[in-house]
Amino acid sequence: MLCCVLFLHLFIFCQEQKERIIDNSFQFQYNSITLFQTFLVRQMIDLFNKFKDFTKPDEYRNKGIYPYFHCLESKQAKEVVMEGKRRIMLGSNNYLGLTTCDEVISAAREALNKYGTGCSGSRFMNGSLDLHITLENELAKFLHKEAALTFTTGFSTNLGIISSLVGRNDYAICDRENHASIYDGCKLSYGNMMRYHHSDMDGLESALRRVPESAGCLIITDGIFSMRGDICKLPDIVDLAKKYGARILVDDAHSLGVIGEGGRGTASYFGLEDEVDMIMCTFSKSLASLGGCLASSAAVADYVKHTSRPFMFSASLPPANAASALAALRHLENHPDLPDTLMSISNYTRETFKKHGINILEANTPIVPIYTKDAEYTLELARNLFDAGVYVNPVLPPATPEGECLLRVSLMATVTEDLVDEAAGIIESEIKKLNEKYNIQG
Ligand SMILES: Cc1ncc(COP(=O)(O)O)c(C=O)c1O
Repeated sequence: MLCCVLFLHLFIFCQEQKERIIDNSFQFQYNSITLFQTFLVRQMIDLFNKFKDFTKPDEYRNKGIYPYFHCLESKQAKEVVMEGKRRIMLGSNNYLGLTTCDEVISAAREALNKYGTGCSGSRFMNGSLDLHITLENELAKFLHKEAALTFTTGFSTNLGIISSLVGRNDYAICDRENHASIYDGCKLSYGNMMRYHHSDMDGLESALRRVPESAGCLIITDGIFSMRGDICKLPDIVDLAKKYGARILVDDAHSLGVIGEGGRGTASYFGLEDEVDMIMCTFSKSLASLGGCLASSAAVADYVKHTSRPFMFSASLPPANAASALAALRHLENHPDLPDTLMSISNYTRETFKKHGINILEANTPIVPIYTKDAEYTLELARNLFDAGVYVNPVLPPATPEGECLLRVSLMATVTEDLVDEAAGIIESEIKKLNEKYNIQG
């Protein structure tokens, strides 16, 4: 106790001496006292200490199965050049294949020529182009909502919507398998977050029952879940939201251009457009660009655009991206059969994989996950497939539950049956080889 008091006095005395030294000529004395003080003060732990336990990437690199950051040397198309070799691309979110569409590329070029490379400011200030407004108007019309608001990425769209609407005493209720950007939006808000097991409607109802009457509540769900590829149980969610007075936000990152009438997404797929308060979309998947949007009532959009920090304090979508998203949207409107083409090649893939004995998760979307379970097995298979000319995405925890790793195959409308046949043959043979190596049956 006495030591503590002495220590405190000594430290305060030093501080007082330092405060008296205001003249530069006494810099030496000032520095000496500071040095002396550092001996009195305990050192913190080094922030970088955590790197010592961060060994997984090197472990996988040493085993030759590190799967990330492969380098693409061509357009994002059904076949790509990656690290010098042709690979069949079965791991892209370019669902409609529009990144290589001439109309979309020309629109981006024209916008670059007209507006230059960037907006140098947020939508709120100097960064609003007529192009943004046109894109927002056309998105709102397409999604049958009063208004739309564009953000710079899909990720920041979720951050921006949720953090703006879910206040300190409010609640956000999430499906456990919602996208990371939804979780981060909840963290950024000052509200409370509850989660229910994947697609467990009893779990959702019990969470709703726990929300106090004095609080507002937002139910947030992916429309199509990004990893498993299944569709959310929107009709049940709508019923529960009505019963308890909650609002609904559907993340249609993987549903826009994919399901619903002409690719209008999950609410349209279920005929529930009027019952869903807010739809969130990205431009980085079916719309072949970058960015995201909120589609909602005019009142919601107006509130979000004046209160959402990720919207107000971040530079707006660059001209070429706004133009390519707009051109892709128009292309989709002019080719309403594109989602059917996508669905038909997805169904063909699912059937072909089954014929080849490949263990897939059932869903009715272009996401066809191959169940691989163990993490190292998954990585090794992904590596072997890559070497054999097929690119797929390995998905490990935390993106999946522990022991439920998978290879995420995702289709584009441009993929041909020949390519699927070729890929299925390679996948079957690589699975057989690996199963033999590890003595796995079936
Ligand atoms: C369901 C979902 N929401 C949001 C995002 C974020 O979108 P973006 O990559 O366009 O920022 C993603 C991206 O993968 C996603 O899968």
